[in-house]
Amino acid sequence: MSGLKVTVGKISFDRPGIVASGIMDETGDTMVRMLRSGAGAVVSKSVGSNPNPGHRNPNFTEVPCGCINAMGLPNPGIDAFAEEMEVAVKEGPIIGSVYGSSPGEFAELAGKMEDYGACAVELNLSCPHAKGYGMEVGTDPKMVGTIVKAVKDAVKVPVWVKLTPNTHILQDIGRSVEEAGGDAIVAINTLKAMVIVPEFGKPLLSNKVCGLSGKCIKPIGVRAVWDLHNAVSIPIVGVGGIYDHRDALEYIMAGASAFQLGSAVLTEGVDVFEKINRGLEAFMEEYGYGSIEEMRGVAHE
Ligand code: FUM
Repeated sequence: MSGLKVTVGKISFDRPGIVASGIMDETGDTMVRMLRSGAGAVVSKSVGSNPNPGHRNPNFTEVPCGCINAMGLPNPGIDAFAEEMEVAVKEGPIIGSVYGSSPGEFAELAGKMEDYGACAVELNLSCPHAKGYGMEVGTDPKMVGTIVKAVKDAVKVPVWVKLTPNTHILQDIGRSVEEAGGDAIVAINTLKAMVIVPEFGKPLLSNKVCGLSGKCIKPIGVRAVWDLHNAVSIPIVGVGGIYDHRDALEYIMAGASAFQLGSAVLTEGVDVFEKINRGLEAFMEEYGYGSIEEMRGVAHE
């Protein structure tokens, strides 16, 4: 499987597929399970400063071509998360996802994830439905730059920044990440969305506004990676609607160095990573590519 090895800035992974934040990553045991299922790394659930129960039910459902969620960033808080990280980091690379409302809060959370053994931190600047967090702080290029700089000053591990597609200035935000020293951009998080149940005359989810993921968002994610590839030189990790190796190839050929899977793990099961790994190897053999890196960005040529 050496042809599947990828490098994202300073870190290498034996396999290119990474578990996206929010899926099978709330406990040490589930993160270990995903690493044993063919994922190259796991991004933890986004963790904040204090325990957070998240939004009440209903907070998730499937829709045609995808899923919608407004979990509300449920997590046990950064101090309690230490024990989950302790279990997970013994098995393989874990990227610690954190969310905060200020540069100082992000820096403190990232520092703790580094102490817990995370190989990188991922800043959630993109959750579309959390008041005061996520895309509310991640759509202002100046604020994004200030947050990234604060975290870079606080940690030695690489700093990845997960961006939202819910903006018309994605390239400006990407450039802010790069100028502030960010090590990689992760694109995209979910799209801001809503489902209404006609019989009830009300939105389905308790939070009303939610995030759309799954197959239907893949073309948006691929376009976002394409735009970012034209705007920045730091690595890009593609995410959004990847279910098979052909989906992954679209992201790689748009410019992604690696990719993440979220909704597909829920609907296809944990074997989806091994299936994608085998599909990529067969494709590379048939089309004469020696590595993922050789395919990166070829659609631009
Ligand atoms: O609600 C949630 O936990 C989702 C987080 C996200 O979209 O980043």
